[in-house]
Amino acid sequence: MRISVIGTGYLGATHAACMAELGFEVMGLDIDPAKIEALSQGVLPFHEPGLPELLRKHVATGRLRFTTSYEEVGAWADVHFIGVGTPQRAGEHAADLRFVHAAARSLAENISKDALIVGKSTVPVGTARSLVDVIRRHSDPSVRIGLAWNPEFLREGFAVQDTLAPDRIVFGVDDPADESVLRAVYARALENETPLIVTDFETAELVKVAANAFLATKISFINAFSEITETVGGDIRTLADAIGHDARIGRRFLNAGVGFGGGCLPKDIRALRARASELGLDQSMRFLAEVDQINLRRRDRVVHLAENMLGELAGKQVAILGVAFKPDSDDVRDSPALDVAVRLYNAGADVRVYDPKANHNAAGRFPRLDYVDSLEAACSGADLVVLLTEWREFRELTPEDLGPLTEGRRLIDARNVLDAEAWEAAGWQFVSLGSKY
Ligand code: UGA
Repeated sequence: MRISVIGTGYLGATHAACMAELGFEVMGLDIDPAKIEALSQGVLPFHEPGLPELLRKHVATGRLRFTTSYEEVGAWADVHFIGVGTPQRAGEHAADLRFVHAAARSLAENISKDALIVGKSTVPVGTARSLVDVIRRHSDPSVRIGLAWNPEFLREGFAVQDTLAPDRIVFGVDDPADESVLRAVYARALENETPLIVTDFETAELVKVAANAFLATKISFINAFSEITETVGGDIRTLADAIGHDARIGRRFLNAGVGFGGGCLPKDIRALRARASELGLDQSMRFLAEVDQINLRRRDRVVHLAENMLGELAGKQVAILGVAFKPDSDDVRDSPALDVAVRLYNAGADVRVYDPKANHNAAGRFPRLDYVDSLEAACSGADLVVLLTEWREFRELTPEDLGPLTEGRRLIDARNVLDAEAWEAAGWQFVSLGSKY
């Protein structure tokens, strides 16, 4: 079986390389020739642990190739995965489906043998059913083109692992013939007893957004309790540990801090609300507006803390540790860390940023911040250090590491990863999110 993957961003590039690893012949397609050129040379245009090795390996074996031509993949592949982006529409909450529609249409126009199109992108419910029509209108009637929806649950930083050994696999199908093709594609995972849910289009689409909405809600839930412990005292980490012992709740995704960001959770909860609204179900997803607000208030909290600790921000030197939306990623889309850094800068602080991988992407968006290439350069002479992304090298920081460098001995731990007592004992003014100040 030959597989094409349309879109070579995080999702598509990972999926293509992992399909090659599973033994398939794969062709990745993107409309961006520069990306295709880089990938064809085995160069990954973003940071994702383990993926460059897989890419190089299968470019070398010849199992993984890249193209910009729909005509080529249409004549070649049996299964076409759509993994293009569904970003938030400018100035609105709804998802922009332009790329998904264009991919489905271009495939339909160019597929010249029986094939299955499989949507992986995160889409508003109802999209798959609307694509059936797009495909029918634009394809050659003598060719059978099936459609299935197979949402992706990979996390950045663990993309390869999540793709090769997923928690579960979901097939949204309309025709049993399409299910058997997907079973063949995922044979390896299914042999390993990965739970498989075979369902309709609508459920498959909703599973993905429901999962992300639940995760976002879990984070905002614990962050809402941070607002209480910040007022009355108490320890937010202990609270999360204690409720997390209840297996019905679980400890994961209860880490209080500066909140969620990235290319998925924020835009997915907004798109879900927008879709519910279109369906006349505004009330059903209204709670997600609150989830979003709680999340955004965390960023305000960090800025206020910085102001309070420094008296005034103008002219003060602030070291920012981390601008990626989470560790092990160079992604700064909707990054809480970058947002806070920019707001401190706009308030007049002299902001110096160090992130092990994301400086470059952050500089592309906000060139005016001072990006430096080491922790030492960021912290030397700083009046305040703000830890915003919990990279391992920051989680392991001790007062001895920073003491000789900084001016102020003030630190905000916006990810709740450092040992407050150790820092206070060393004479630091130390504040973590969720603690009373
Ligand atoms: C998320 C989901 O976890 C994936 O399952 C999903 O496939 C993906 O979106 C997607 O839709 O493509 P990802 O955006 O890579 O994955 O990142 P997460 O690991 O979910 O983290 C999201 C944000 O939440 C980060 O900013 C992280 O710092 C924050 N977070 C996470 C917390 O603030 N507290 C936590 O306890 C956990």
